[in-house]
Amino acid sequence: MWWRSAKHRFPQQADGKTLLHIGCGQVNSPGYINIDARKFPHVHIVTRKITSLPLFPSDQADLIYMCHVLEHVKRGQVIAVLSEMRRILKTGGVLRLSVPDFDRIVEIYNATQRSIDAIQGPLMGGQDYDYNFHHLAFNAEHLRKLLLSCGYREVRAWDPDNCQYHDFQDWASMRHSYGEEKFEISLNLEAVK
Ligand SMILES: C[S@@+](CC[C@H](N)C(=O)[O-])C[C@H]1O[C@@H](n2cnc3c(N)ncnc32)[C@H](O)[C@@H]1O
Repeated sequence: MWWRSAKHRFPQQADGKTLLHIGCGQVNSPGYINIDARKFPHVHIVTRKITSLPLFPSDQADLIYMCHVLEHVKRGQVIAVLSEMRRILKTGGVLRLSVPDFDRIVEIYNATQRSIDAIQGPLMGGQDYDYNFHHLAFNAEHLRKLLLSCGYREVRAWDPDNCQYHDFQDWASMRHSYGEEKFEISLNLEAVK
């Protein structure tokens, strides 16, 4: 009921699709309903309780995007978050994720003569504000299994430079800088409800 009356106040894509951007941070993604624990002018809904978003009815969203957010969720809550996103998605809707890839972090560690300084940020989070601490590590196999266990299907890679509804810059394509070097850091997977 709330959604029916509130829907028109939120952005929609020109094609009528409903897109949610959870943990958008400072990234303003026009056409998305922007949600974050922190308040910014472009954030439509400020909440940290992404295990439960009852303001969104079930089977509503076409795409839910979370870029470098899932690793900030506590280990005991990750299933609840993925399940809540699945509830909100339409059948056929997509959960698009980007997270730090632990396998890449190991590569950085090895490429920097096992420098802990080189991997602290990608492994543990920036730690410069309350919500910027990592609680979880992922690699492709682990994330794929997690998504399948929550009832998603068709887990597949996505390319931030060549995909629909991603015409902004964020961590999905950013590289981790250490000294003079820049390293790929992200694992970009999406799954279908
Ligand atoms: C590393 S930043 C990524 C920001 C942006 N997605 C990007 O790729 O540049 C993580 C974002 O997730 C938000 N965040 C962390 N935990 C959250 C939670 N439980 N609920 C909502 N937002 C959260 C933080 O406030 C922050 O803006």
